Amino acid sequence: MAATDTPSLADAARGRLLFGGDYNPEQWPEETWHEDVRLMKDAGVNSVTLGVFAWAKLEPRPGAREFGWLDRLMDLMHAHGIGVVLATPTASPPPWMGRLHPDTLPRDEDGRTEWWGSRQHFSHSSATYRRYAAAIAEDLAARYAGHPALTMWHINNEYCTYDWGDESAAAFRRWLQDKYGALDALNEAWGTAFWSQGYGDWHEILPPRRAHYMKNPTQVLDFKRFTSDMLLECYLAERDIVARYTPHIPVTTNFMPFWQGQDAWTWAEQEDVVSVDSYPDPHDPFGGQYGALVHDMTRSQARGGPWMLMEQAAGSVNWRGVNRPRPAGLNRLWSLQAVARGADAVCYFQWRQSRQGSEKFHSGMVSHAGEHGRTFQEVKRIGAELALLGEKVPGTKVDALEVAVLLDWNAWWASQQDGRLSCEVDYPQIVRAWHRALWEAHTTADFAHPEHDLSAYKMVVVPQLYVMTDAAIDNLTSYVENGGTLVAGFQTGIADEDDRVRPGGMDARLRELFGIRVLHEWWPLDAGETVDIEGFHGTLWSEEIEAADGITETTPYKGGELDGLPAVLRNGRAWYVSTLPEPHALRTLLAGIAADAGAGPTLTGLPARVEAVRRGGLLFLLNHGRDAVTVPVPGRHRDLLTGADVTDGVQLGRYGVAVLEAAP
Ligand code: GLA
Repeated sequence: MAATDTPSLADAARGRLLFGGDYNPEQWPEETWHEDVRLMKDAGVNSVTLGVFAWAKLEPRPGAREFGWLDRLMDLMHAHGIGVVLATPTASPPPWMGRLHPDTLPRDEDGRTEWWGSRQHFSHSSATYRRYAAAIAEDLAARYAGHPALTMWHINNEYCTYDWGDESAAAFRRWLQDKYGALDALNEAWGTAFWSQGYGDWHEILPPRRAHYMKNPTQVLDFKRFTSDMLLECYLAERDIVARYTPHIPVTTNFMPFWQGQDAWTWAEQEDVVSVDSYPDPHDPFGGQYGALVHDMTRSQARGGPWMLMEQAAGSVNWRGVNRPRPAGLNRLWSLQAVARGADAVCYFQWRQSRQGSEKFHSGMVSHAGEHGRTFQEVKRIGAELALLGEKVPGTKVDALEVAVLLDWNAWWASQQDGRLSCEVDYPQIVRAWHRALWEAHTTADFAHPEHDLSAYKMVVVPQLYVMTDAAIDNLTSYVENGGTLVAGFQTGIADEDDRVRPGGMDARLRELFGIRVLHEWWPLDAGETVDIEGFHGTLWSEEIEAADGITETTPYKGGELDGLPAVLRNGRAWYVSTLPEPHALRTLLAGIAADAGAGPTLTGLPARVEAVRRGGLLFLLNHGRDAVTVPVPGRHRDLLTGADVTDGVQLGRYGVAVLEAAP
């Protein structure tokens, strides 16, 4: 066990970088298992996740237990030195459960049942579902607690179900009673005086089901909070069961990044290992930036890491409209990028590509082409290189960063409602645009919750925070008072946590901070429309702002209705950007402000598509471009991947990577 009493990724990794993936051997005859183990050893796989969707196989009839096949697999893995991340199978109840217990099935907002025949067809609020889930978790824990292959518990899978059904409605009412105590407080918070929505009895309250016209936004917001909390209750119930049997074994559940259903900040506090599933699009020229964003979010949720890349695709996924494979070299680049950004585990969905079922065209580490296929050959190379890095990297952290990006699920939930001014404004896209500007400026950033302690950072970036609590506003104002540099994008500080617009259209403390005397009107832009601003174009949004007296540093709108009014305002160390600048302009703006704040890029002189990250004193250089480049790096280094000594620079081929250690 690690130094503290709480188990961590280090307990599972045991001084190595974990490498492997979801292994679903129940699809294959047992001869294939032996072939799998041979190939796993060949590829340096040291960790597999078993049992994620195995509930029907483990419990083919209510209360029955079929553990023999899993016993044999656990033993097989142990015999070959491969650790097992053992999943509770509760993401996909067997068909008998829905047939015998229709109350376990979720309902959509139209009242339609989500039937079995796919997966994740469970209601988070169903007492019956929870009872069966607890029982199978308990029996798995009891049976495998002492098994030497067990390294980690994986609870459920990508918790993601909403439920508008009756049992969920009752749970929602209880949750609201806990939150508000009295109906008057709920009516006040939801603003039910508008449109005759006042509630006189708790039983009148429903989840926000199909309605004639726009739904009450605060009711929807609370329903999102409730859903995250209910799913968390399901996780905690199973976590507590397995932890009772194995207090020394870490527990995780895999996040989907940018998934509305879980407030990842809250959830991460309850996990021994923060893990994520990341599927950048190989066809997206900024797929590498998306990966960096997911890694930065996950590392930050893991309080600096290390963290686990639970799933990625070795080749294509099969759930986009058009699904491209990863071209040669990209899997290696993106895998090592995760390590650079703090991962101690690089894993995939799934080990062997399925021949049947819904995901047969989703790649595996062993593709349909088999062991001679390019995908597996590349997987082998990655396994070998992770073993090399395993000597220096595990347990280290990304070197302290100077910039933080603020992110909040409440702001997302509240801003994506009916009745807003622009359906073109998408919170994840805004966050991604600001992160991309930093990434392109070679500046690695952490993410933080708006109420976190920000004092370690020289610059804090707020892409958008439509909803902010008073505590968050106080946090930002005192951050600036104490010498921090703050840059905020449009629609920040508009509403309080009940989605009540703050007087003046933006919180008064923030208006003062940014030097805004009056925010007259919001002027959203059409898709593809731009607005001229001195030196660049703005997209998506613009604002009619009157600067406060004495605010002289502004960049004005040019032409149109807002001609001459400030688009960007600076008040000392606080900056406000009332549009989304086009990418190069946002990059230039943030790079300039960062330089003023003393927060430089990781390395100067980097070619455009080269990412540089320092972790544990090592310098990771990642070429996201297809052209070979020379990267200037002052001094003498050794590349841990090739063993070569390099002086004052290194060559990186297409999608090339170097991991440099300073020469003694
Ligand atoms: C998710 C799931 C996996 C699989 C992959 C496919 O991450 O957890 O079971 O469906 O997506 O991309």
